[in-house]
Amino acid sequence: RIKRTAISAEPAQHKKSKDLRVVLQAFDKTDRTKEFLRDAILNNDFMKNLEMDQIMAIVDCMYPLEQKDGSLIIKEGDVGNLVYIMEEGTVEVSKHNKVLTIMGPGRVFGELAILYNCTRTASIKALSHCKLWAVDRLTFQAIMMRAGMQKQTEHLELLKNIKTFESVREDILSKIADAVDQVSYADGECIVRQGAKGDTFYIVAKGRVQITQAKSKWDTAVYVRHMERGDSFGETALQSEETRPFNVIADDPNGVTCLVLDRQSYREMIADELSRLKRVESVRYARKNGEDERDLKNLRL
Ligand code: CMP
Repeated sequence: RIKRTAISAEPAQHKKSKDLRVVLQAFDKTDRTKEFLRDAILNNDFMKNLEMDQIMAIVDCMYPLEQKDGSLIIKEGDVGNLVYIMEEGTVEVSKHNKVLTIMGPGRVFGELAILYNCTRTASIKALSHCKLWAVDRLTFQAIMMRAGMQKQTEHLELLKNIKTFESVREDILSKIADAVDQVSYADGECIVRQGAKGDTFYIVAKGRVQITQAKSKWDTAVYVRHMERGDSFGETALQSEETRPFNVIADDPNGVTCLVLDRQSYREMIADELSRLKRVESVRYARKNGEDERDLKNLRL
């Protein structure tokens, strides 16, 4: 007796490549198809929270694919290589030979193995001729990376123009750009309160904030100035615990986004750089005081 084993229709997994500089290939599609694919992604619990530019890049790279009635599109336990969106047809999802559900047009499937780097969690069989759209793992991961890199580059550009960081080397700034958190505030929300203790440094990345200050505890705070993209506040908090000398309030109907950095992460990242700067300082000091520089030449600056 010949034992029939189901053969998945998926192409072999690409060789693992360290080089994620994948050239993204876009496939032509109508605006209607793009909207359809975008909505399918937005209706998928695991993909709906991707950034819109990531979603649209995935949509652009999806290509059409057909599967015959009865074919096994995904086999449970396989290493997955494609994420699919169903345009026409019906598929059956099963696990351990038990049918879990039937899915029709507008559904994403095959996303779990790619998103979570696991094997296929279920099998998917075509119950009719199916028209699908697909994107491969490498393209998918490259889109995720690229979006992350775009953010990093944007953060770096902001950091480069901040006075506090003007003597910090670019490779360290690049680490800081990775480490900063992006926090959003609603219009009118208080970001920093006068008199409160703080250890966080803020850079305005989007929107405007208003600075107000009260002369004393008993006075009402008065307007000082506005700050916008590229402006920063709370820099002394990076050196020691700061009692905030003013209030900072989000003042933008579209909300405000700040890059935030706390003292501990800053110190960890900048520790080597700080000791280098201290060495530079001590050499300068020694030169000014006419000390013998021979010993100082051994310092690696
Ligand atoms: P993945 O694990 O990559 O491959 C099998 C796919 O089946 C899986 O991604 C999901 O898209 C889908 N899937 C798994 N479990 C269920 C379920 N309970 N209901 C609907 N779809 C599922």
